Amino acid sequence: MRRHHGTTPRTARVLGSLLLIAAAGGLTLGAAPAARAAAPVPLDRIVPAPVSVTPGGTPYRVTRATGIHVDGPAEVHRIGTYLAGLLRPATGYPLPVTDHGDGGILLRLTQGDYGAEGYRLHSGADGVTLTARTPAGLFHAVQTLRQLLPAAVERTTVQRGPWQIAAGTLQDRPRYAYRGAMLDVARHFFTVPQVKRYIDQLALYKINELHLHLSDDQGWRIAVDSWPRLASYGGAGEVGGGRGGHYTKADYREIVRYAASRYLEVVPEIDMPGHTNAALASYAKLNCDGVAPPRYTGTQVGFSSLCVSKKATYDFADDVIRELAALTPGRYVHLGGDEAHSTAHADYVRFMDRVQPLVARYGKTVIGWHQLTGAHPAKGALAQYWGVDGTGAAEKAQVAAAARNGTHLILSPADRVYLDMKYTARTGPGTKWAGLVEVHRSYDWNPGTYLAGVPASAVRGVEAPLWSETVKTSAGIEYLAFPRLAGAAELGWSPAARHDWSAYRKRLAAQGPRWDALGIHYYRSPQVPWPAR
Ligand code: ACM
Repeated sequence: MRRHHGTTPRTARVLGSLLLIAAAGGLTLGAAPAARAAAPVPLDRIVPAPVSVTPGGTPYRVTRATGIHVDGPAEVHRIGTYLAGLLRPATGYPLPVTDHGDGGILLRLTQGDYGAEGYRLHSGADGVTLTARTPAGLFHAVQTLRQLLPAAVERTTVQRGPWQIAAGTLQDRPRYAYRGAMLDVARHFFTVPQVKRYIDQLALYKINELHLHLSDDQGWRIAVDSWPRLASYGGAGEVGGGRGGHYTKADYREIVRYAASRYLEVVPEIDMPGHTNAALASYAKLNCDGVAPPRYTGTQVGFSSLCVSKKATYDFADDVIRELAALTPGRYVHLGGDEAHSTAHADYVRFMDRVQPLVARYGKTVIGWHQLTGAHPAKGALAQYWGVDGTGAAEKAQVAAAARNGTHLILSPADRVYLDMKYTARTGPGTKWAGLVEVHRSYDWNPGTYLAGVPASAVRGVEAPLWSETVKTSAGIEYLAFPRLAGAAELGWSPAARHDWSAYRKRLAAQGPRWDALGIHYYRSPQVPWPAR
Protein backbone atom coordinates (compact mmCIF):
# COMPACT_ATOMS: atom_id res chain seq x y z
CA MET A 1 0.00 0.00 0.00
CA ARG A 2 1.39 3.37 -0.90
CA ARG A 3 0.11 6.71 0.08
CA HIS A 4 1.27 8.16 -3.18
CA HIS A 5 1.71 6.89 -6.65
CA GLY A 6 5.06 7.70 -8.09
CA THR A 7 3.59 8.67 -11.44
CA THR A 8 2.01 11.99 -10.47
CA PRO A 9 4.22 15.02 -11.01
CA ARG A 10 4.80 15.75 -7.38
CA THR A 11 5.75 19.39 -7.41
CA ALA A 12 2.92 20.39 -9.70
CA ARG A 13 0.41 18.53 -7.57
CA VAL A 14 1.55 19.98 -4.29
CA LEU A 15 1.85 23.49 -5.64
CA GLY A 16 -1.62 23.25 -7.12
CA SER A 17 -3.00 22.12 -3.80
CA LEU A 18 -1.28 24.89 -1.92
CA LEU A 19 -2.76 27.47 -4.25
CA LEU A 20 -6.20 26.06 -3.59
CA ILE A 21 -5.59 26.19 0.14
CA ALA A 22 -4.37 29.75 -0.08
CA ALA A 23 -7.56 30.63 -1.91
CA ALA A 24 -9.67 28.78 0.64
CA GLY A 25 -7.87 30.40 3.55
CA GLY A 26 -8.54 33.82 2.10
CA LEU A 27 -12.28 33.38 1.99
CA THR A 28 -14.22 35.23 4.59
CA LEU A 29 -17.25 33.57 6.03
CA GLY A 30 -20.50 35.40 5.57
CA ALA A 31 -21.89 36.68 8.85
CA ALA A 32 -24.73 34.42 9.94
CA PRO A 33 -27.89 36.13 11.13
CA ALA A 34 -28.45 36.29 14.88
CA ALA A 35 -30.29 33.26 16.23
CA ARG A 36 -34.02 33.55 16.53
CA ALA A 37 -34.49 30.14 18.05
CA ALA A 38 -38.18 29.50 18.38
CA ALA A 39 -38.08 25.99 19.83
CA PRO A 40 -35.05 24.68 21.68
CA VAL A 41 -32.75 22.14 20.03
CA PRO A 42 -34.26 18.67 20.68
CA LEU A 43 -32.20 16.58 23.12
CA ASP A 44 -31.28 14.03 20.47
CA ARG A 45 -30.16 16.59 17.86
CA ILE A 46 -26.50 16.39 18.90
CA VAL A 47 -23.36 14.84 17.44
CA PRO A 48 -22.30 12.25 18.47
CA ALA A 49 -25.80 10.80 18.97
CA PRO A 50 -26.51 10.17 22.65
CA VAL A 51 -27.35 6.72 24.00
CA SER A 52 -30.88 7.67 25.06
CA VAL A 53 -33.14 10.66 25.62
CA THR A 54 -36.43 11.04 27.45
CA PRO A 55 -37.94 14.39 26.51
CA GLY A 56 -40.55 16.09 28.65
CA GLY A 57 -41.22 19.13 30.81
CA THR A 58 -40.57 22.83 30.51
CA PRO A 59 -37.31 23.95 28.89
CA TYR A 60 -34.74 25.70 31.03
CA ARG A 61 -33.89 29.24 30.03
CA VAL A 62 -30.43 30.62 30.68
CA THR A 63 -30.84 34.23 31.83
CA ARG A 64 -28.88 37.04 33.39
CA ALA A 65 -29.74 35.46 36.77
CA THR A 66 -28.34 32.02 35.91
CA GLY A 67 -25.48 30.74 38.03
CA ILE A 68 -23.19 27.78 37.46
CA HIS A 69 -22.98 25.67 40.61
CA VAL A 70 -20.35 23.03 41.16
CA ASP A 71 -20.39 20.12 43.57
CA GLY A 72 -17.05 18.37 43.65
CA PRO A 73 -13.29 18.97 43.83
CA ALA A 74 -11.37 21.85 42.25
CA GLU A 75 -11.40 20.12 38.88
CA VAL A 76 -15.18 20.37 38.75
CA HIS A 77 -14.89 24.05 39.54
CA ARG A 78 -12.47 24.35 36.64
CA ILE A 79 -14.98 22.69 34.28
CA GLY A 80 -17.66 25.08 35.52
CA THR A 81 -15.35 27.99 34.77
CA TYR A 82 -14.70 26.57 31.30
CA LEU A 83 -18.47 26.36 30.71
CA ALA A 84 -18.94 29.93 31.88
CA GLY A 85 -16.17 30.98 29.50
CA LEU A 86 -18.01 29.32 26.62
CA LEU A 87 -21.35 30.95 27.38
CA ARG A 88 -20.45 34.46 28.53
CA PRO A 89 -19.37 36.14 25.28
CA ALA A 90 -22.55 35.46 23.27
CA THR A 91 -25.05 35.65 26.13
CA GLY A 92 -23.44 38.65 27.77
CA TYR A 93 -24.51 37.19 31.13
CA PRO A 94 -22.25 37.12 34.21
CA LEU A 95 -22.77 33.38 34.91
CA PRO A 96 -20.93 33.28 38.25
CA VAL A 97 -19.39 29.93 39.19
CA THR A 98 -20.12 29.05 42.81
CA ASP A 99 -19.78 26.05 45.12
CA HIS A 100 -23.40 26.22 46.17
CA GLY A 101 -26.71 27.58 45.04
CA ASP A 102 -30.08 26.48 43.73
CA GLY A 103 -31.35 26.31 40.21
CA GLY A 104 -29.26 27.35 37.28
CA ILE A 105 -26.71 24.93 35.91
CA LEU A 106 -25.38 22.34 38.37
CA LEU A 107 -22.30 20.19 37.72
CA ARG A 108 -21.87 17.33 40.15
CA LEU A 109 -19.84 14.16 40.60
CA THR A 110 -21.46 11.08 42.14
CA GLN A 111 -20.62 7.41 42.45
CA GLY A 112 -23.37 6.35 40.02
CA ASP A 113 -23.07 3.90 37.17
CA TYR A 114 -21.92 6.38 34.54
CA GLY A 115 -18.70 4.71 33.45
CA ALA A 116 -15.37 6.46 32.99
CA GLU A 117 -16.70 9.06 30.54
CA GLY A 118 -20.49 8.85 30.67
CA TYR A 119 -22.89 11.41 32.10
CA ARG A 120 -26.51 12.31 32.58
CA LEU A 121 -28.09 15.63 31.66
CA HIS A 122 -31.42 16.59 33.17
CA SER A 123 -33.16 19.78 32.15
CA GLY A 124 -36.36 21.36 33.44
CA ALA A 125 -37.87 24.73 34.27
CA ASP A 126 -35.70 25.17 37.38
CA GLY A 127 -32.36 24.30 35.93
CA VAL A 128 -30.04 21.87 34.24
CA THR A 129 -28.11 19.22 36.16
CA LEU A 130 -25.05 17.51 34.71
CA THR A 131 -24.04 14.38 36.63
CA ALA A 132 -21.07 12.08 36.10
CA ARG A 133 -18.70 9.84 38.02
CA THR A 134 -15.60 11.52 36.57
CA PRO A 135 -14.55 15.00 35.49
CA ALA A 136 -14.17 13.65 31.93
CA GLY A 137 -17.84 12.68 32.00
CA LEU A 138 -18.80 16.18 33.16
CA PHE A 139 -16.66 17.72 30.45
CA HIS A 140 -18.47 15.67 27.80
CA ALA A 141 -21.78 16.71 29.36
CA VAL A 142 -20.73 20.33 28.91
CA GLN A 143 -20.13 19.69 25.20
CA THR A 144 -23.65 18.30 24.97
CA LEU A 145 -25.11 21.28 26.81
CA ARG A 146 -23.29 23.55 24.38
CA GLN A 147 -24.83 21.81 21.36
CA LEU A 148 -28.30 22.06 22.93
CA LEU A 149 -28.02 25.86 22.89
CA PRO A 150 -28.52 27.84 19.68
CA ALA A 151 -25.46 27.93 17.41
CA ALA A 152 -25.11 31.67 18.04
CA VAL A 153 -23.83 30.80 21.52
CA GLU A 154 -20.49 30.11 19.83
CA ARG A 155 -20.08 33.72 18.72
CA THR A 156 -17.69 36.05 20.46
CA THR A 157 -20.01 39.06 20.60
CA VAL A 158 -23.34 39.43 22.38
CA GLN A 159 -26.20 37.79 20.48
CA ARG A 160 -29.92 37.80 20.86
CA GLY A 161 -31.35 34.80 22.75
CA PRO A 162 -33.48 33.23 24.02
CA TRP A 163 -31.03 30.66 25.41
CA GLN A 164 -33.29 27.70 26.01
CA ILE A 165 -32.35 24.10 26.74
CA ALA A 166 -34.91 21.44 25.89
CA ALA A 167 -36.49 19.66 28.84
CA GLY A 168 -35.96 16.02 29.71
CA THR A 169 -33.23 13.56 30.53
CA LEU A 170 -30.31 12.46 28.38
CA GLN A 171 -28.14 9.45 29.30
CA ASP A 172 -24.87 8.99 27.50
CA ARG A 173 -21.62 7.05 27.48
CA PRO A 174 -19.12 6.08 24.78
CA ARG A 175 -19.10 2.87 22.79
CA TYR A 176 -15.29 2.91 22.59
CA ALA A 177 -12.62 4.06 25.02
CA TYR A 178 -10.32 5.22 22.19
CA ARG A 179 -11.74 7.99 20.01
CA GLY A 180 -8.89 9.64 18.23
CA ALA A 181 -7.75 12.14 15.68
CA MET A 182 -4.26 12.31 14.24
CA LEU A 183 -2.56 15.44 13.02
CA ASP A 184 0.53 15.11 10.81
CA VAL A 185 2.74 17.97 11.96
CA ALA A 186 5.70 16.55 10.01
CA ARG A 187 4.76 17.13 6.36
CA HIS A 188 3.78 20.66 7.29
CA PHE A 189 4.50 22.05 10.71
CA PHE A 190 1.61 23.42 12.76
CA THR A 191 2.19 25.88 15.58
CA VAL A 192 1.04 25.43 19.17
CA PRO A 193 -1.94 27.81 18.65
CA GLN A 194 -2.96 25.88 15.52
CA VAL A 195 -2.84 22.60 17.44
CA LYS A 196 -4.85 24.13 20.29
CA ARG A 197 -7.49 25.31 17.86
CA TYR A 198 -7.84 21.76 16.54
CA ILE A 199 -7.95 20.37 20.09
CA ASP A 200 -10.92 22.63 20.87
CA GLN A 201 -12.67 21.38 17.75
CA LEU A 202 -12.01 17.75 18.70
CA ALA A 203 -13.32 18.28 22.22
CA LEU A 204 -16.66 19.51 20.87
CA TYR A 205 -17.19 15.99 19.45
CA LYS A 206 -15.97 14.12 22.56
CA ILE A 207 -12.74 12.89 20.94
CA ASN A 208 -10.32 11.90 23.68
CA GLU A 209 -7.05 10.99 21.91
CA LEU A 210 -4.81 13.36 19.95
CA HIS A 211 -2.20 11.42 17.99
CA LEU A 212 0.63 13.68 16.81
CA HIS A 213 2.72 12.36 13.92
CA LEU A 214 5.94 14.04 15.08
CA SER A 215 8.48 12.80 12.57
CA ASP A 216 8.66 11.83 8.95
CA ASP A 217 10.91 12.14 5.92
CA GLN A 218 10.19 15.86 5.64
CA GLY A 219 10.61 16.97 9.23
CA TRP A 220 11.42 16.15 12.83
CA ARG A 221 9.16 18.20 15.10
CA ILE A 222 10.12 17.57 18.72
CA ALA A 223 13.25 18.71 20.58
CA VAL A 224 15.43 15.82 21.78
CA ASP A 225 18.21 17.06 24.07
CA SER A 226 20.54 14.12 23.46
CA TRP A 227 20.23 14.43 19.65
CA PRO A 228 19.74 18.18 19.14
CA ARG A 229 20.20 18.24 15.36
CA LEU A 230 17.02 16.18 14.91
CA ALA A 231 14.95 19.27 15.61
CA SER A 232 17.39 22.08 14.78
CA TYR A 233 18.34 20.69 11.36
CA GLY A 234 15.84 17.89 10.70
CA GLY A 235 12.95 20.14 11.72
CA ALA A 236 13.97 23.10 9.57
CA GLY A 237 12.02 22.15 6.46
CA GLU A 238 8.73 20.78 5.21
CA VAL A 239 6.86 19.71 2.09
CA GLY A 240 7.19 22.30 -0.64
CA GLY A 241 10.33 23.86 0.86
CA GLY A 242 8.90 25.97 3.70
CA ARG A 243 10.76 26.68 6.92
CA GLY A 244 9.12 23.95 8.97
CA GLY A 245 9.68 24.19 12.69
CA HIS A 246 9.61 22.09 15.82
CA TYR A 247 8.18 22.06 19.31
CA THR A 248 10.51 22.87 22.17
CA LYS A 249 9.92 20.71 25.21
CA ALA A 250 8.05 23.63 26.78
CA ASP A 251 5.85 23.90 23.66
CA TYR A 252 5.12 20.21 23.77
CA ARG A 253 4.26 20.30 27.47
CA GLU A 254 1.89 23.16 26.72
CA ILE A 255 0.13 21.08 24.04
CA VAL A 256 -0.14 18.17 26.48
CA ARG A 257 -1.46 20.45 29.22
CA TYR A 258 -4.02 22.07 26.94
CA ALA A 259 -5.15 18.72 25.58
CA ALA A 260 -5.55 17.40 29.14
CA SER A 261 -7.67 20.44 30.01
CA ARG A 262 -9.99 19.26 27.21
CA TYR A 263 -9.76 15.63 28.39
CA LEU A 264 -7.64 14.47 25.48
CA GLU A 265 -4.60 12.24 25.88
CA VAL A 266 -1.69 13.01 23.54
CA VAL A 267 -0.23 10.02 21.67
CA PRO A 268 3.20 10.95 20.29
CA GLU A 269 4.42 9.11 17.21
CA ILE A 270 8.00 8.74 16.07
CA ASP A 271 7.74 6.79 12.83
CA MET A 272 10.42 4.07 12.47
CA PRO A 273 12.29 2.42 10.77
CA GLY A 274 10.95 3.99 7.53
CA HIS A 275 9.73 7.57 7.15
CA THR A 276 13.03 8.64 8.74
CA ASN A 277 14.79 10.84 6.20
CA ALA A 278 14.73 13.86 8.53
CA ALA A 279 16.62 11.88 11.18
CA LEU A 280 19.00 10.33 8.63
CA ALA A 281 19.74 13.80 7.23
CA SER A 282 20.49 15.12 10.71
CA TYR A 283 23.00 12.43 11.76
CA ALA A 284 25.30 10.69 9.27
CA LYS A 285 25.96 7.90 11.75
CA LEU A 286 22.37 6.70 11.53
CA ASN A 287 22.96 5.74 7.89
CA CYS A 288 24.42 2.34 6.95
CA ASP A 289 26.88 4.05 4.58
CA GLY A 290 27.69 6.80 7.08
CA VAL A 291 26.56 9.50 4.65
CA ALA A 292 23.70 11.84 5.55
CA PRO A 293 21.18 12.34 2.72
CA PRO A 294 19.89 15.83 1.94
CA ARG A 295 16.69 17.05 3.57
CA TYR A 296 13.56 16.14 1.64
CA THR A 297 10.65 18.37 0.66
CA GLY A 298 8.72 16.08 -1.69
CA THR A 299 5.85 13.72 -0.93
CA GLN A 300 7.05 10.27 -1.94
CA VAL A 301 7.10 7.50 0.67
CA GLY A 302 9.03 4.32 1.33
CA PHE A 303 12.57 5.41 0.42
CA SER A 304 14.18 5.85 3.85
CA SER A 305 15.24 3.40 6.54
CA LEU A 306 17.17 3.52 9.77
CA CYS A 307 20.22 1.23 9.68
CA VAL A 308 19.00 -1.87 11.48
CA SER A 309 22.47 -3.39 11.96
CA LYS A 310 24.06 -0.39 13.70
CA LYS A 311 24.32 0.14 17.45
CA ALA A 312 23.85 3.89 16.93
CA THR A 313 20.30 3.18 15.73
CA TYR A 314 19.32 1.65 19.05
CA ASP A 315 21.12 4.34 21.07
CA PHE A 316 19.06 6.84 19.06
CA ALA A 317 15.81 4.92 19.61
CA ASP A 318 16.49 4.55 23.33
CA ASP A 319 17.27 8.24 23.80
CA VAL A 320 14.33 9.45 21.73
CA ILE A 321 11.82 7.13 23.40
CA ARG A 322 13.18 7.94 26.88
CA GLU A 323 12.90 11.70 26.35
CA LEU A 324 9.51 11.41 24.68
CA ALA A 325 8.17 9.15 27.44
CA ALA A 326 9.37 11.66 30.02
CA LEU A 327 7.31 14.37 28.28
CA THR A 328 4.27 12.10 28.06
CA PRO A 329 1.80 11.63 30.89
CA GLY A 330 -0.30 9.49 28.54
CA ARG A 331 -0.11 5.74 28.22
CA TYR A 332 1.21 5.33 24.70
CA VAL A 333 4.17 5.82 22.41
CA HIS A 334 3.39 5.23 18.73
CA LEU A 335 6.31 3.70 16.83
CA GLY A 336 4.86 4.05 13.35
CA GLY A 337 6.24 1.08 11.43
CA ASP A 338 4.30 1.69 8.20
CA GLU A 339 5.61 1.68 4.65
CA ALA A 340 9.09 0.41 5.57
CA HIS A 341 9.62 -0.46 1.91
CA SER A 342 13.37 0.15 2.14
CA THR A 343 13.83 -2.15 5.12
CA ALA A 344 14.12 -5.90 4.44
CA HIS A 345 11.31 -7.77 6.19
CA ALA A 346 13.70 -9.72 8.44
CA ASP A 347 15.34 -6.43 9.42
CA TYR A 348 11.95 -4.89 10.14
CA VAL A 349 11.11 -7.75 12.50
CA ARG A 350 14.52 -7.52 14.16
CA PHE A 351 14.17 -3.77 14.57
CA MET A 352 10.71 -4.00 16.12
CA ASP A 353 11.87 -6.81 18.43
CA ARG A 354 14.57 -4.50 19.80
CA VAL A 355 12.69 -1.23 19.89
CA GLN A 356 9.30 -2.21 21.32
CA PRO A 357 10.86 -3.22 24.71
CA LEU A 358 12.27 0.31 24.99
CA VAL A 359 8.74 1.66 25.08
CA ALA A 360 7.92 -0.71 27.95
CA ARG A 361 11.18 0.18 29.72
CA TYR A 362 10.06 3.78 29.86
CA GLY A 363 6.64 2.84 31.16
CA LYS A 364 4.55 3.17 28.00
CA THR A 365 2.50 0.92 25.73
CA VAL A 366 3.31 0.49 22.05
CA ILE A 367 1.02 1.53 19.25
CA GLY A 368 2.07 0.76 15.68
CA TRP A 369 0.48 0.99 12.27
CA HIS A 370 -0.94 -2.41 11.39
CA GLN A 371 2.23 -3.53 9.59
CA LEU A 372 3.45 -4.22 13.12
CA THR A 373 1.25 -7.33 13.05
CA GLY A 374 3.69 -8.72 10.47
CA ALA A 375 6.41 -8.65 13.16
CA HIS A 376 5.92 -9.66 16.81
CA PRO A 377 3.68 -7.08 18.46
CA ALA A 378 4.64 -6.57 22.11
CA LYS A 379 2.22 -7.77 24.76
CA GLY A 380 -0.53 -5.20 25.09
CA ALA A 381 0.47 -3.34 21.91
CA LEU A 382 -2.26 -1.74 19.82
CA ALA A 383 -2.23 -1.92 16.03
CA GLN A 384 -3.74 0.88 13.98
CA TYR A 385 -5.41 -0.48 10.85
CA TRP A 386 -5.25 1.84 7.85
CA GLY A 387 -6.23 -0.50 5.01
CA VAL A 388 -8.98 0.03 2.46
CA ASP A 389 -11.75 -2.12 0.99
CA GLY A 390 -9.27 -3.41 -1.56
CA THR A 391 -6.54 -4.37 0.92
CA GLY A 392 -5.49 -7.95 0.25
CA ALA A 393 -7.12 -10.83 2.08
CA ALA A 394 -3.78 -12.04 3.45
CA GLU A 395 -3.02 -8.67 5.01
CA LYS A 396 -6.48 -8.45 6.56
CA ALA A 397 -6.18 -12.02 7.84
CA GLN A 398 -2.83 -11.20 9.44
CA VAL A 399 -4.38 -8.27 11.29
CA ALA A 400 -7.40 -10.35 12.34
CA ALA A 401 -5.14 -13.16 13.63
CA ALA A 402 -3.15 -10.64 15.67
CA ALA A 403 -6.39 -9.24 17.06
CA ARG A 404 -7.49 -12.72 18.15
CA ASN A 405 -4.09 -13.11 19.80
CA GLY A 406 -4.58 -10.01 21.93
CA THR A 407 -3.26 -7.14 19.80
CA HIS A 408 -6.22 -4.81 20.01
CA LEU A 409 -7.05 -2.53 17.11
CA ILE A 410 -7.61 1.11 16.43
CA LEU A 411 -9.55 1.41 13.18
CA SER A 412 -8.52 4.08 10.68
CA PRO A 413 -9.59 2.64 7.32
CA ALA A 414 -8.11 5.06 4.82
CA ASP A 415 -11.05 4.99 2.41
CA ARG A 416 -13.38 5.93 5.29
CA VAL A 417 -11.67 8.10 7.89
CA TYR A 418 -8.42 9.39 6.39
CA LEU A 419 -9.40 13.03 6.53
CA ASP A 420 -6.88 13.98 3.87
CA MET A 421 -8.76 12.13 1.13
CA LYS A 422 -10.53 14.48 -1.26
CA TYR A 423 -14.31 14.47 -1.01
CA THR A 424 -14.81 14.61 -4.78
CA ALA A 425 -12.60 15.10 -7.80
CA ARG A 426 -13.43 18.81 -7.68
CA THR A 427 -12.74 19.56 -4.02
CA GLY A 428 -9.26 20.58 -2.97
CA PRO A 429 -7.01 20.21 -0.99
CA GLY A 430 -6.40 16.54 -0.28
CA THR A 431 -5.07 13.41 -1.90
CA LYS A 432 -6.93 10.51 -3.45
CA TRP A 433 -4.78 7.40 -3.34
CA ALA A 434 -7.43 5.65 -1.19
CA GLY A 435 -10.29 7.04 -3.26
CA LEU A 436 -12.69 9.94 -3.05
CA VAL A 437 -14.44 9.90 0.31
CA GLU A 438 -17.66 11.87 0.57
CA VAL A 439 -19.40 12.39 3.90
CA HIS A 440 -21.82 9.46 3.50
CA ARG A 441 -19.08 6.94 2.72
CA SER A 442 -16.96 8.24 5.58
CA TYR A 443 -19.81 7.68 8.06
CA ASP A 444 -21.45 4.54 6.77
CA TRP A 445 -19.49 1.64 8.29
CA ASN A 446 -19.52 -0.22 11.56
CA PRO A 447 -16.24 -0.43 13.49
CA GLY A 448 -17.52 -3.45 15.40
CA THR A 449 -17.94 -5.62 12.32
CA TYR A 450 -15.62 -3.91 9.88
CA LEU A 451 -12.80 -6.46 9.72
CA ALA A 452 -13.81 -10.09 9.29
CA GLY A 453 -12.46 -12.42 11.96
CA VAL A 454 -11.80 -9.66 14.50
CA PRO A 455 -13.67 -10.15 17.78
CA ALA A 456 -15.70 -7.05 18.64
CA SER A 457 -13.89 -6.96 22.00
CA ALA A 458 -10.56 -6.48 20.19
CA VAL A 459 -11.66 -3.14 18.72
CA ARG A 460 -10.41 -0.39 21.01
CA GLY A 461 -11.83 2.40 18.92
CA VAL A 462 -11.65 4.65 15.89
CA GLU A 463 -9.16 7.30 14.84
CA ALA A 464 -9.38 9.83 12.01
CA PRO A 465 -5.89 10.71 10.74
CA LEU A 466 -5.16 13.88 8.82
CA TRP A 467 -1.95 13.74 6.76
CA SER A 468 -0.71 17.18 5.88
CA GLU A 469 1.05 16.96 2.52
CA THR A 470 -1.54 19.32 1.02
CA VAL A 471 -2.48 21.53 3.97
CA LYS A 472 -0.58 24.12 5.92
CA THR A 473 -3.20 26.38 7.49
CA SER A 474 -5.98 25.88 10.02
CA ALA A 475 -8.47 26.59 7.24
CA GLY A 476 -6.93 23.74 5.26
CA ILE A 477 -7.16 21.35 8.22
CA GLU A 478 -10.76 22.36 8.85
CA TYR A 479 -11.89 21.98 5.27
CA LEU A 480 -10.74 18.36 5.27
CA ALA A 481 -11.82 17.54 8.83
CA PHE A 482 -15.28 19.08 8.70
CA PRO A 483 -17.70 17.46 8.33
CA ARG A 484 -16.01 14.02 8.28
CA LEU A 485 -14.43 14.35 11.71
CA ALA A 486 -17.88 14.59 13.29
CA GLY A 487 -18.84 11.28 11.67
CA ALA A 488 -15.70 9.54 12.92
CA ALA A 489 -16.45 10.88 16.39
CA GLU A 490 -19.96 9.47 16.22
CA LEU A 491 -18.66 6.07 15.09
CA GLY A 492 -16.40 6.08 18.13
CA TRP A 493 -18.95 7.31 20.64
CA SER A 494 -22.50 6.29 19.74
CA PRO A 495 -23.96 2.80 20.08
CA ALA A 496 -24.24 0.86 16.82
CA ALA A 497 -28.03 1.02 17.15
CA ARG A 498 -27.88 4.81 16.77
CA HIS A 499 -25.97 4.68 13.48
CA ASP A 500 -28.30 5.83 10.76
CA TRP A 501 -27.22 7.97 7.83
CA SER A 502 -30.62 9.51 7.17
CA ALA A 503 -30.92 10.73 10.76
CA TYR A 504 -27.23 11.60 10.99
CA ARG A 505 -27.22 13.89 7.96
CA LYS A 506 -29.92 16.03 9.59
CA ARG A 507 -28.10 16.20 12.91
CA LEU A 508 -24.93 16.99 11.02
CA ALA A 509 -26.65 19.75 9.08
CA ALA A 510 -27.49 21.41 12.38
CA GLN A 511 -23.76 21.66 13.12
CA GLY A 512 -23.20 23.92 10.09
CA PRO A 513 -24.39 27.15 11.74
CA ARG A 514 -22.27 26.25 14.79
CA TRP A 515 -19.19 25.91 12.58
CA ASP A 516 -20.04 29.20 10.92
CA ALA A 517 -20.28 30.82 14.34
CA LEU A 518 -16.93 29.30 15.37
CA GLY A 519 -15.26 30.42 12.14
CA ILE A 520 -14.59 26.81 11.09
CA HIS A 521 -13.98 26.57 7.36
CA TYR A 522 -15.90 23.44 6.31
CA TYR A 523 -16.97 21.58 3.19
CA ARG A 524 -20.68 22.11 2.48
CA SER A 525 -21.24 18.65 1.09
CA PRO A 526 -24.33 18.38 -1.14
CA GLN A 527 -25.12 15.15 0.74
CA VAL A 528 -26.02 17.16 3.85
CA PRO A 529 -29.17 19.36 4.09
CA TRP A 530 -27.42 22.43 5.50
CA PRO A 531 -29.69 25.27 6.54
CA ALA A 532 -29.32 28.30 4.28
CA ARG A 533 -26.73 30.79 5.47
C1 ACM B 1 0.04 5.44 6.53
O1 ACM B 1 -0.88 6.06 5.98
N1 ACM B 1 1.16 5.20 5.90
C2 ACM B 1 -0.09 4.95 7.89
